[in-house]
Amino acid sequence: MFVQNSNLKNQKISDIVGNDYRYAKALDSFGVDFYKYFDYQIEDICKIKGFKKESLIGYRISLDESFDLEHDSLKSCPLNLVVEYLKHNHNYFIKNKLPYIKNLIQNLDTSNINYKFSDDLKFIFPSFYEEFTEHILEEETIIFQYINKLFYADHNSQNLSLLFFSMKEISLKNIAEEHLNEDSEMSGIRGLTKNYSLNNIKNLHLKVIFQELKEFDKELEIHSNIENKILFPRALKLQDKISNELRNISFLN
Ligand SMILES: [Fe+2]
Ligand SMILES: [Fe+2]
Repeated sequence: MFVQNSNLKNQKISDIVGNDYRYAKALDSFGVDFYKYFDYQIEDICKIKGFKKESLIGYRISLDESFDLEHDSLKSCPLNLVVEYLKHNHNYFIKNKLPYIKNLIQNLDTSNINYKFSDDLKFIFPSFYEEFTEHILEEETIIFQYINKLFYADHNSQNLSLLFFSMKEISLKNIAEEHLNEDSEMSGIRGLTKNYSLNNIKNLHLKVIFQELKEFDKELEIHSNIENKILFPRALKLQDKISNELRNISFLN
């Protein structure tokens, strides 16, 4: 589908996005809200906005490039790099992915749409956003910092003393269990959209939103799996090792 349309010659915006929803994101990055220009030809939009069609196609292709690391490489790379990788994911969610989806939802014209959940989606999304940002903030300011302290203490015993008080304040085991058992922040949106089902949805703007939400849900699941299956188990193991070392030091003293 994408290859066939890759020269986009004489196509309307609605056809381009209808064939490939990721073009909505590519257009957005060139300052075009696709839902305001449904009936425009792509050539006209390029002229009005002053960019080349090839640049748009190039940007669209770049959206297929994945920077995801394999689970196996994350399992074996140093723990501080796993933390950095997860922070990079957070940054992408907060600065790129979610503002785009938020903007799409805010601009959804519900007066013209005959789906009762459109208003609910506008209502529910900001609370999801807030909850999600809090989750990320807690991870970055408390959990990741603590795990980095463990990592650096393991590499330099002079840092061991810095850990003594943090270890008393934080229960990594409880945090890891809570993280594993908590529902995805997306569960409300999943329910509302019937698992992002496009059945019976004709409105293109809403279709793009559903597909973006589905993609984000998938990315978030991969992210959480890395935290649950790689980050926490490795950090807990390291914490045990360091606790033993601290015990030995106090015993020798
Ligand atoms: Fe995270
Ligand atoms: Fe998380």
